[in-house]
Amino acid sequence: MKTLLRIDASARVDTSYSRSLADYVEKAWKQQNSEHQVIYRDLAKTLIPHLQQNTIEGFYTPQEQMTSAMKDVLAISDELISELLEADEILISSPLYNLNVPSGLKAYLDQVVRIGHTFETGEGGVHQGLLKNKTAYLVLAKGGSYRGTLYEAFDFQEPYLKAILQYIGIKPQAVFSLEGTSDQDTLQRNLPNLYQQIDTIFQTQPQIL
Ligand SMILES: Cc1cc2nc3c(=O)[nH]c(=O)nc-3n(C[C@H](O)[C@H](O)[C@H](O)COP(=O)(O)O)c2cc1C
Repeated sequence: MKTLLRIDASARVDTSYSRSLADYVEKAWKQQNSEHQVIYRDLAKTLIPHLQQNTIEGFYTPQEQMTSAMKDVLAISDELISELLEADEILISSPLYNLNVPSGLKAYLDQVVRIGHTFETGEGGVHQGLLKNKTAYLVLAKGGSYRGTLYEAFDFQEPYLKAILQYIGIKPQAVFSLEGTSDQDTLQRNLPNLYQQIDTIFQTQPQIL
């Protein structure tokens, strides 16, 4: 049985393009994997705490020496990492907020990028991601258009997500990026391409939404 961990980051719960596209990807993924389970992590519904002094000290303290305050504050990191470990594939849906991922998704990543658990630094400072055999699908929504424009370098969302996933050993498998959601004409032009890309990757028949 295959396990998909789905992480949604848009603060908009009902009218979000990234969530609606992630629904489409999830359906296609389920069609491809008849035996499956999905773990949902909705970052708008359960806020992930920012790192605190105890969290960082706990990250660098051996388990047997941790104080109870450190253990308490690390419980959420433990829980999120065990969800990641359980997953074969990860689906992240994210809007572009102020040129990057929403702070909720950054807080999530800060909790799971953890020395000795998801990455390690070996001799000579060589970095190694510790998660193995896991791939990720990224579903991104942006109000404006960046790719191929003068502003492409201003969009840190996709390069950051790809880099941080690889940092912990997860291979980005496909990126479905919807640009121009703030402009109806651009949006209507871009949407069919996005659905087609998803259908191609999952080799499914177009779905009726
Ligand atoms: C707080 C906030 C910041 C945003 N910042 C940007 C931005 O920097 N660039 C951009 O192109 N769109 C920006 N947008 C527009 C969103 O990227 C766009 O509405 C997108 O569709 C949101 O994803 P969603 O539909 O899944 O909620 C911003 C929207 C909000 C609410």
